[in-house]
Order: sequence, then structure tokens, then C-alpha cells
Amino acid sequence: MRLSVQRRKGDIEAMRAVVVREPGPEDVLTVVDRDDLAPPPGHVRVRVRFAGVNRADLLQRLGLYPAPPGSPTDIPGLEYAGEIDAVGAGVPESKIGERVYGITGGGSYAEQVVVHERETARIPDGIAERDAAAVPEAFITAYDALVLQARLRPGERVLVHAVGSGVGTAGLQIAKALGCQVVGTSRTASKLDKAAPLGLDAAALVESAASLEKAVRGAFPQDIDVVLDLVGGPYFAATLPLLAPKARVVVVGLTAGVRGEMDLGLLLRKRLTVVGTVLRSRPLEEKIQAADLLRRTLSPWLARKMIKPVVEAVFPLAEAAAAHRLVASNATFGKVLLEV
Ligand SMILES: NC(=O)c1ccc[n+]([C@@H]2O[C@H](COP(=O)([O-])OP(=O)(O)OC[C@H]3O[C@@H](n4cnc5c(N)ncnc54)[C@H](OP(=O)(O)O)[C@@H]3O)[C@@H](O)[C@H]2O)c1
Repeated sequence: MRLSVQRRKGDIEAMRAVVVREPGPEDVLTVVDRDDLAPPPGHVRVRVRFAGVNRADLLQRLGLYPAPPGSPTDIPGLEYAGEIDAVGAGVPESKIGERVYGITGGGSYAEQVVVHERETARIPDGIAERDAAAVPEAFITAYDALVLQARLRPGERVLVHAVGSGVGTAGLQIAKALGCQVVGTSRTASKLDKAAPLGLDAAALVESAASLEKAVRGAFPQDIDVVLDLVGGPYFAATLPLLAPKARVVVVGLTAGVRGEMDLGLLLRKRLTVVGTVLRSRPLEEKIQAADLLRRTLSPWLARKMIKPVVEAVFPLAEAAAAHRLVASNATFGKVLLEV
């Protein structure tokens, strides 16, 4: 279904953006014209070509996850790929035309987004903007969780819950690039099949948290060193018996809920480390570090094809509502994008 488009007649200095008209179902997403953005000192304006759709955008649309301070309050969108088309004072004009990608606190469901110059990373030559747009949120989140927070080491055993998700497919590939063994869970058998060519060593079809331990042990009998938990809720407690001494669990997503009951004795006896993380609300300095991650590690890996963007579907900007419906359906493998 297409969205209504509210255009200001005769106004050529306007950009198209998708706004959340009011909190509610998918149809509250509306295409409007907004004034061209002017980048302040130290910032650049990116002509967005593709924007990733994330679960956080769905929550924002429902009024449950407001944009952080400094981000547009009504335009969702946490990541983009495009090219710089204007620069603020202090940024060399030679930057104009550079193909860039990155994360932002909001606003990428639009033809223009303004970000700090150092929040952007150059898209490697030979990588299409469509593929680049599938990288920032999923791969930065997964790399930050696995490597920077859980201190993942080569040869370790990794469990990725919801391995067919955007972050899950990224985490799988990062762990494989580091020489780890990976077991993944999903409630959907076809997603486990699709994860095999990305290097998945063992696949656990999980119907519910109650059968999780048995399903994972059946697929991969050894104890787990690091968990990328993209599901939360009852999965968290059900995972603990599977862990090796001194294992690390990074809780990244809570699609199964924010509450659960756990055996704290396991935390003590196994000397476990549990970390929670979130990317969006981090201050500018940490967003710049995230861009460094893209520049120094993920972009070279992408250029060398050590990691591959996984794109389930691309929708035109005006069909953002359909994109949200698809993500909410849980039927996707990898990322859903908007073409702007
Ligand atoms: N902390 C951060 O900074 C950060 C950043 C990015 C994403 N996230 C979070 O990480 C999670 C994954 O994000 P994503 O964009 O990769 O998600 P996604 O691509 O939309 O995939 C999510 C998948 O999780 C599975 N799932 C959904 N509800 C479930 C439930 N109740 N029980 C078990 N599995 C369930 C579904 O796959 P199957 O059922 O088919 O397996 C679904 O397709 C989300 O919760 C997201 O909000 C957090």
C-alpha cells in the first residue's frame, strides 16, 4: 500500500521525508516535504539513497521509543548510505560527492540527513549503496557486542539467538571472520538453512524457551563461551545452563520480552559476565568511535568480501508502512531497506 504524499506546491527547496504523523499503526507513516537541511559547523549533509529499517523504528512509530536529544523527533531512521551533498564550516568542500554510510540517532527516512563529519565512513569502492546501507546498524551492533564488550577470541564457541535477524546474520559473519564456531537459533527452519552458507556450524530450531536448552545441546553439545542474545525474555534464563565457566552474555535485543526469572546461582558458580547494550542513545563521541569501527575494520572486511550484507527486501520510501509490516511479521532474513 502506498502512503499519501503531502507536497508544498511550487517549493523547490524541499526534501521528502517520512514522518510519524502520530503514534500508531503503520499507516501513520506519511511522506511530507520538509525544508532543505543546512549542515552546521563540523557537519555534513548526506543525500540519502538507502535507509535501513530497524525494530527501533517500529517502536518509535508506536510512541514507545522517542528519538534521542538532537535527532529529528518525527522522522525515523537510524542508518543510511548516500553521498555528501553539502558541508558545514570547517569541513573541506572536497568532501562533497563522497559516498558515505553510517548510523545516526534518527532522521534517515528522508532525502537528507545531517550528521557530524566524523560520524560518517566512506563506502568502499565497488560496494553498492544498497549493500552498504545494510551494514551500519547490524554490523556495528554485532561487532561492538561480540568483540568490544564480550572480548570474543578466535576459536571460541558462540551462540547467536535469532541468527536470521539483521544483527544475527552480522554477528554470525563476524564470529566466523574471527575463526569462531557458531551455533544459531531460530523459530524458522528456512532461516537456519539460509544461515548455513554464511558459515553457521550448528543450527538449533527452537520452538520456545522451554525447548531451547535441548535444541541447542542437540545441535552443538559443547559449552558456549559467548552469547549474542537478540531475543531476551525467557531465552535469557534458558541459555545459562548451556554456558562454559567465565562465559559472557551480551543482551542486545528483547523481542521476547523484558522480564524473566533466572537462577542466580548459575551466575556465581559459572562466574558469568552479563552485559546489556544499546547503540542509539550513545553520545557523539561514542558514535564517532562506531564510525571508526566502520572505517578501520568493517569497511576493509566488506571490501575483501569477508562479510556480506544480507538484504531481504527493498521498498520505495513511500512504502515505509509496508516495510514496517514486513519487519513486524518476523518473516525476514537479514535487512529490510528503503530506497530514497
Ligand atoms: N541494543 C542495540 O543497540 C540494538 C541495535 C540493533 C538491534 N537491536 C535489537 O536486536 C534485535 C534484533 O534486531 P534485528 O534488526 O536484527 O531484528 P530482525 O531482523 O527484525 O529479526 C528479529 C527476529 O527475531 C526473532 N523473534 C522475534 N520475536 C521473537 C520471539 N518472541 N521469540 C524468539 N524469537 C523472536 C524472529 O526470527 P525467528 O523467529 O524466525 O527466528 C525475527 O525475525 C531486536 O530486538 C532489536 O531491537 C538492538
